[in-house]
Amino acid sequence: MIILGIESSCDDTSAAIINDCVLLSNVIASQKVHEAYGGVVPELASRAHQQNIVPVVSEAIRQAGITKSDIDAIAFTRGPGLPGSLHVGTSFSKGLALALGIPLVDVNHLHGHVLAHFIKEDENTPVPEFPFLCLLISGGNSQIIKVNSPGDMEILGQTIDDAAGEAFDKCAKVMGLPYPGGPIIDQLAQQGDPNRFKFAKPHIAGYNYSFSGLKTSFLYTLRDQLKLNPQFIEENKAHLAASLQKTIIDILMDKFAKAIKDTGIKTIAIAGGVSANSGVREAVQRYCDRRGIKAFIPKRSFTTDNAAMIAVAGHFQYLAGHTCPITAPPFARVVI
Ligand code: KG4
Repeated sequence: MIILGIESSCDDTSAAIINDCVLLSNVIASQKVHEAYGGVVPELASRAHQQNIVPVVSEAIRQAGITKSDIDAIAFTRGPGLPGSLHVGTSFSKGLALALGIPLVDVNHLHGHVLAHFIKEDENTPVPEFPFLCLLISGGNSQIIKVNSPGDMEILGQTIDDAAGEAFDKCAKVMGLPYPGGPIIDQLAQQGDPNRFKFAKPHIAGYNYSFSGLKTSFLYTLRDQLKLNPQFIEENKAHLAASLQKTIIDILMDKFAKAIKDTGIKTIAIAGGVSANSGVREAVQRYCDRRGIKAFIPKRSFTTDNAAMIAVAGHFQYLAGHTCPITAPPFARVVI
């Protein structure tokens, strides 16, 4: 079964082709236009999606070595995301499905991130067994999810304020780094001392996360130190990045480890943009190696927004008999 996946929830326009979850192509056009503004500008994002979507889909079909008539179904991100951006992918998918006379499958973007672990590079790619626990960490979400099957995901815990990616990006911003700051903090952290600075960690019961206290304590540290030394950030960039990254990892691992212990589940996965972070990947791998737990760490190209994960999620939805009508609107927030 050949599926075309289309992703346009934020600032990446992506199209991918899979054949029974084996990846044939995955084309991503990232939007550079937002860099000058220090964050994603929704109106500019939807305009860039409009410019990108036709060439990106054509290129995905070309790279896959198929023609339009080989496609069995179209899977698209219906939400959550930026409304204007979602509209572009949704409308395009509907138009193409109508023209080709093939079914449409709507995909929850977050399910896509989790199911990225089922993208196969070839027939032998290992995939997680159900149930597994997934730590989904991105720019907009931080969740611990018990994945019982492709269509049955239980959220055990989630952030009550900022997401892990926001903590990286917002702290990077106050350090004067460009957006998105997460990957830059990751790079800087390699040369820094993670124990040089101490930042606040939350005390919340259960499996929920909070990152806003860390953000405030980071901000206060900078403010106090800058009064004493205006060169403080410049002189301590790497140490600040390493200490910030260590604190975020400690917060993430504390609750994730608790969920792993309490559920007794022996297969775990990480997903979402922040799972590209070197420190997070090492910490998860180390934790699992010591306890005989199987860890699925995604390829970096499948951690950030991509259509391959949407196509795979659509594959499972379609097999379960789930298609969506041509009238289905995108959802900015509602979980499908
Ligand atoms: O999953 P994603 O592409 O977008 C959402 O759907 O939210 O995640 C983007 C987030 C941004 O906050 C970005 O800074 C973060 O992922 N990110 C990283 C790294 N690469 C991306 N954070 C820390 N270290 C990285 N290497």
